[in-house]
Amino acid sequence: MAVQVIGRGPLVPELKPSSHDSRTIVLAPTGKDSVLIAGLLGRRGMPCHVAASVEELCLEIERGAGAAILSEEALSETAITRLRAVIDEQPPWSDFPLVVLTVGGRVTIQSERLRALRQPLGNVFLLERPIRPETLLSTLEIALRGRLRQYQIREQIAQYSRAQEALRRSEKLAVTGRLAASIAHEINNPLEAVTNLLYLMRDCGDAEKSKGYLASADQELARVAEITRHTLRFYREPSHPVDTQVESVLGSVLVLYHSRMAAASVEADVEIFAPEARVLASPGELRQVIANLVGNAIDAMRHGGRLRLRLSEESGPGKPRVRLTIGDTGSGIPRSLLPTIFEPFVTTKGETGTGLGLWVTGEILRRNGWKMQVRTRHGALRSGTVFSLVMPAATTVAAQEEVSEAVA
Ligand SMILES: Nc1ncnc2c1ncn2[C@@H]1O[C@H](COP(=O)(O)OP(=O)(O)O)[C@@H](O)[C@H]1O
Ligand SMILES: [Mg+2]
Repeated sequence: MAVQVIGRGPLVPELKPSSHDSRTIVLAPTGKDSVLIAGLLGRRGMPCHVAASVEELCLEIERGAGAAILSEEALSETAITRLRAVIDEQPPWSDFPLVVLTVGGRVTIQSERLRALRQPLGNVFLLERPIRPETLLSTLEIALRGRLRQYQIREQIAQYSRAQEALRRSEKLAVTGRLAASIAHEINNPLEAVTNLLYLMRDCGDAEKSKGYLASADQELARVAEITRHTLRFYREPSHPVDTQVESVLGSVLVLYHSRMAAASVEADVEIFAPEARVLASPGELRQVIANLVGNAIDAMRHGGRLRLRLSEESGPGKPRVRLTIGDTGSGIPRSLLPTIFEPFVTTKGETGTGLGLWVTGEILRRNGWKMQVRTRHGALRSGTVFSLVMPAATTVAAQEEVSEAVA
């Protein structure tokens, strides 16, 4: 059984209500229409802006408006094309209302042509002249009420994307908290060993034995130094994408999972076929992805097992890619759960899981254009899961740097 995660489209930008939201833009260049309409709306306390040209109309719609009233004379073919471009550019929640005052009279080839051209403008109300002020006002009110609904949808989209952002942050904090706990744990083990060795040395009169204890203490302290070196590197790392060596990030994750793996009787099987493989990534994001996949793999092997990590580079057809597979011989993922694992709050770990790890992983994949395949077997005899992360290799960037260095 396998699923693939590929990009799911851009995130919705945050949108703020503006004071322009409820105003009506009026474009009626000939006759006294614009003055009359502006007066009518002004008396009703409805904000309005009179535009002198289609250009100005489009500019004002882009700045924000509730509706537009325009006379048919202003809608030449070029004007319609220009207006269509603005309407097409509107965000997905928007269906901008246009109230068009038509000339009336007979249907001609020209009027039919304009009608066809107007079609893609979408939300168009046609009012045939002469128009009574009440008719214009009530039509405009309907248009503005519809627009209000659109603003409500806009607000909901913004709230949704704010909530998503809060979740992303909370998962990041949870990851940081877990990393801090692992670091403390990893440092504590060698320190305990050193304490024991010092204790042994105190009462030991044998110089040869003492030398052995000292050598062991040295090794333990070297391990502490290694952990702090890795940790300090996270701290100084840039958060924007840079040329990143995948193996070093993988190493910095594994160093922190040592004791957790030992406690769960998990053996690691690491095969590095491409030690130099590099990708364009924020090292922190790549670490978050790997840490979550490795953490999930260990969680799935409650009764021991094998963690298989494999780093390779594929040249094949197309651009070179880096592939990192993280496999386990754990419980596997049930068929019914598999399609949902990338959704937020999906967890089978009760209190100890957040269900946000793979969701954030999915977001990071989408942002970086990475892909992931999941293969899993959930059975009584054999079970296990393999996550395979595929990223474009950063070789071209590195090659360019080498060339410019050579030139320099
Ligand atoms: N390697 C794996 N083996 C078995 N189940 C997994 C594995 N990876 C993920 N899962 C399932 O997917 C769920 C969601 O994972 P994740 O989003 O990281 O949240 P969490 O780890 O907090 O539960 C897990 O609770 C688990 O049921
Ligand atoms: Mg997880």
